Amino acid sequence: MRDFLILPSLLSADFARLGEEAEAVIDAGADMLHLDVMDNHYVPNLTVGPMVCEALRHYGIKVPIDVHLMTKPVDRLIVDFANAGATNITFHPEASEHVDRSLSLIRKHGCKAGLALNPATTLHCLEYVLDKIDLVLVMSVNPGFGGQSFISSALEKISDLKELIVSRNLDIRIAVDGGIKTENIGQVAQAGADMFIAGSAIFNHPDYAEVIANMRKQLSDVR
Ligand code: DX5
Ligand code: ZN
Repeated sequence: MRDFLILPSLLSADFARLGEEAEAVIDAGADMLHLDVMDNHYVPNLTVGPMVCEALRHYGIKVPIDVHLMTKPVDRLIVDFANAGATNITFHPEASEHVDRSLSLIRKHGCKAGLALNPATTLHCLEYVLDKIDLVLVMSVNPGFGGQSFISSALEKISDLKELIVSRNLDIRIAVDGGIKTENIGQVAQAGADMFIAGSAIFNHPDYAEVIANMRKQLSDVR
């Protein structure tokens, strides 16, 4: 079986009990936590900043924290999140005037670097920065909100991206974010994704362990 990772998105957690919620999904089998950072400018919603990432580390969260910046600009927050304990930092290419520089900045601060592609964003923006990327996050909804439906054109994008990665023998992970559920995770894995971000499917279910186990069961059939 491929090395599949499940990342609950804290966007759908109870923010008033964020530490406990993070601990609960880790105990339930999550591999990493996904933290959605929205600025009411790049996307029409406002969530959390680096202080919350740092607070999770102080609370005792040891698993990798995957930070998804939906902000414009990104450079200052890249440094702040790296200092706050982020493991991966991903941004949208449209949100940085200098994508190559922002990617280098992430690695310079000891984190893994990712680019997030909106549903209408093509793979072309990756071409000259493939050597600076550790992960590509394919958005399967428009960024800004949890609980939206999976946009099926993401499947074609994931398989095209997988083909590109394999043909060039690159060590880049494919994350998928938006509308991931037990019902579609197998198909998305089949297309080539290996990191699955799920918010509402996990946190809106009374038993986090049951959902994560069901997702893994679907993934176990994928080669
Ligand atoms: C959307 C966020 C996602 C969101 C996914 O802008 O980037 O991480 O939490 O939520 P679900 O899984 O509910 O679509
Ligand atoms: Zn996200």
